[in-house]
Amino acid sequence: METRSDSALYPGHPRVRDGAGPRIPPAEVLDRIEAAKKSLGKRLVILGHHYQRDEIIRFADFTGDSFKLARSAAKQSDARFIVFCGVHFMAESADILTSADQAVLLPDLKAGCSMADMADLDQVLDCWDEIEQRTGGTTIPVTYMNSTAAIKAFCGDHGGIVCTSSNAAGVFRWAFERGKRILFLPDEHLGRNTAHAMGIGDSDMTVWDPSRFDGGNTGEVLDAARVILWKGFCSVHMTFQPEHCELMREKFPGIRIIAHPECTAEVIAQADESGSTERIIAAIRASKPGSKWAVGTEHHMVQRLAAELPDRMIIPLSPYACNCATMYQIDPPNLMEALEALVGDRVINRITVPEDVARSALVALERMLANG
Ligand code: 13P
Ligand code: SF4
Repeated sequence: METRSDSALYPGHPRVRDGAGPRIPPAEVLDRIEAAKKSLGKRLVILGHHYQRDEIIRFADFTGDSFKLARSAAKQSDARFIVFCGVHFMAESADILTSADQAVLLPDLKAGCSMADMADLDQVLDCWDEIEQRTGGTTIPVTYMNSTAAIKAFCGDHGGIVCTSSNAAGVFRWAFERGKRILFLPDEHLGRNTAHAMGIGDSDMTVWDPSRFDGGNTGEVLDAARVILWKGFCSVHMTFQPEHCELMREKFPGIRIIAHPECTAEVIAQADESGSTERIIAAIRASKPGSKWAVGTEHHMVQRLAAELPDRMIIPLSPYACNCATMYQIDPPNLMEALEALVGDRVINRITVPEDVARSALVALERMLANG
């Protein structure tokens, strides 16, 4: 079987996008995805993150948050091909958690995550040297799932662990049983919100800013900190502001506010609840008909929930459509291309983590899976 790792159309394939030749009508694209999926049968599993658009989610065999999808990927021992409709770090984790004879594909290689890209391995190694010099062997590195395989491998090699937004508190407890402080990568806000929920105050935390000398910290500050937060963020979740919470409560008395923990601590403090995408969905599904919700996360998920539960009022927390542009890269034409290539015995857009990196990253991922 031929394997290709670029997103160009394969030879002889009809072009599907405007401006690139004759366009295939959207309904035909959906029919062709269905047909390719049917023809691949049990050899194929499609995983879909909750932020994917409806036209993609309808083809997913399993949907979930990052944790649930990592678990699903690890369980697909019968599937030869795992097509990950999500972003790059999720597909990398799926590749690490599956066997070498299984291929993980990302329908569009441009589907990255800007937060994951905010922790570069060289910068993290510089930070680690500084922390180790100052605090000698008392820090545990913890990385959010939204990080590159190289960062997960770094954590695996240094006694650390991975977490997702659904198990961060348990992972923090695991880390505090083994060290005095946590270096949390790359999302400042998930790290801060998790620490707050455990009763750790801002005075026990410091931010490591990779653009500043020594991360902007003195040795004493690093030594005193219980949590060192990497200065990374999600631009989608940063759009939610505490004022949005006030506005919602003013306009819709009785409304409940639920937000993803990638939002700032100021927003989470104003919200009634917070949690991973899976947890947000579960909380709203479990609520009574007639209840009102303002949701602080990506808008495709919010729109889908609103359509699924028309007897509840479900609206975005912000007046702006907060769309994850890279999740949106996955669309029916590129899913169709990936599946039809597989039918024709070609693997395109395969995600392959180098073996040495995968081995170390697996250590950190397995610690998380064993813990949650
Ligand atoms: P979840 O693990 O909650 O699905 O979050 C993933 C993500 O990228 C949120 O921005
Ligand atoms: Fe990354 Fe934010 Fe998109 Fe999640 S919503 S994949 S953190 S850019």
